[in-house]
Amino acid sequence: MSRPKNQSYKGHGLSKGKEREQRASIRFKTTLMNTVMDVLHNRPGWVEVKDEGEWDFYWCDVSCLRENFDHTYMDDHVRISHFRNHYELTRKNYMVKNLKRFRRQLEREAGKPEAAKCDFFPKTFEMPSEYHLFVEEFRKHPGITWIMKPVARSQGKGIFLFRRLKDITDWRQGTASKKFASLEAQPAHAATTTVNPSGSQDTRSSDDQKDELPVENYVAQRYIENPYLIGGRKFDLRVYVLVMSYLPLRAWLYRDGFARFSNTRFTLSSIDDQYVHLTNVAVQKMSPDYHPKKGCKWMLQHFRQYLASKHGPQVVEALFSDMDNIFIKSLQSVQKVIISDKHCFELYGYDILIDQDLKPWLLEVNASPSLTASSQEDYELKTCLLEDTLHVVDMEARLTGKEKRVGGFDLMWNDGPVSREEGAPDLPGMGNFVTNTHLGCVNDRKNQLQQLFRSLQSQKKASS
Ligand SMILES: Nc1ncnc2c1ncn2[C@@H]1O[C@H](COP(=O)(O)OP(=O)(O)O)[C@@H](O)[C@H]1O
Ligand SMILES: [Mg+2]
Repeated sequence: MSRPKNQSYKGHGLSKGKEREQRASIRFKTTLMNTVMDVLHNRPGWVEVKDEGEWDFYWCDVSCLRENFDHTYMDDHVRISHFRNHYELTRKNYMVKNLKRFRRQLEREAGKPEAAKCDFFPKTFEMPSEYHLFVEEFRKHPGITWIMKPVARSQGKGIFLFRRLKDITDWRQGTASKKFASLEAQPAHAATTTVNPSGSQDTRSSDDQKDELPVENYVAQRYIENPYLIGGRKFDLRVYVLVMSYLPLRAWLYRDGFARFSNTRFTLSSIDDQYVHLTNVAVQKMSPDYHPKKGCKWMLQHFRQYLASKHGPQVVEALFSDMDNIFIKSLQSVQKVIISDKHCFELYGYDILIDQDLKPWLLEVNASPSLTASSQEDYELKTCLLEDTLHVVDMEARLTGKEKRVGGFDLMWNDGPVSREEGAPDLPGMGNFVTNTHLGCVNDRKNQLQQLFRSLQSQKKASS
């Protein structure tokens, strides 16, 4: 975004020389019609801009990114709600590719124990390009369950479970199934495996590539067969992480989130029943057992309390600290790949599954977590989450930049771990370093915001 201002670009923001504080109003634009729109409309001093008008803040969906980045000059203060190549983290195949590469890098630079801290994603293969590697792995563990997921879809669409190779050869007619069938006929070790310059393996022959029609990419992933169950039901967690910058990495963790439950008792005997295995709200809502009043969510606070009463606080601390590790390592795995543009921020929705050993697994990271509310409680959570996101993004330029907490957000990483103690150095390893994360803890955001803005105002008065 360092290109000079040019007549052919739509200009956004104020002309040079005007300070952020001097803006009387913030002009926003959005493509979303849900809680985002409500929160933006209700924010004091913010005004909506329609169509081609100039804007300072744009909450857009990922599909509108290209146009904005390619044809827009942006002033320093302008902000947009995604990183340009967010998909490096938010597409299922790229996320795994980046995590595998990061794990190899850690092993080289810091040894095996450090690399093992990345072992939080189920074994995953990209399809069809890693089909042969997958088959080798498949044959090593006969009888286990696998899950096939399209790399770029969401809400459980296109997902299915399988235990036989035949199930995936049947899965797609046309090019994909022909490719799978012909590859099947060869022994796995005879596949032409080439290593491309980026280091990833490509098992396709050049003829395959030449004749290839576009095939939707999938990942084949080991299915977690022993999910932690509550009331006999499977669930996964949705956690919100706000990244303000990748270089240096600066990330905030939201205190609230929720567990999304299946309405049907868990069993491995019916792998075709999506209501048992997929915990997406979009799936569960269609289930015959769904009660619109009851919904299928538990707030994270409730979940954390439940676990603490069952297993004790130490076990819960360990689980939540393992989750912190997932957030940080996954962000670090793309730190050098994502284009760190100061105009961008991103509110990610992490999907985490916990197994019966209380190990958390990363299933995926969403660039556009659903911000549509499914109940009053959900509406409140999402509205507060968005308000606090805007406080951290700080278009109004009220913060000092030294805050460790803003509403429900705690600063989790600031080019290194952040200490919970006020005034303590943000470097681990000395004394009792406790990280500044409070996932699933009390979220007294209103009080905190009042105090924060009061003290910012008095600081401002004192300095003027
Ligand atoms: N490896 C896995 N093991 C167990 N359950 C899984 C696994 N991957 C996905 N699921 C279930 O399927 C749901 C959808 O998978 P996800 O990867 O989040 O894709 P989507 O983009 O469709 O939401 C998850 O919320 C979870 O309930
Ligand atoms: Mg998901």
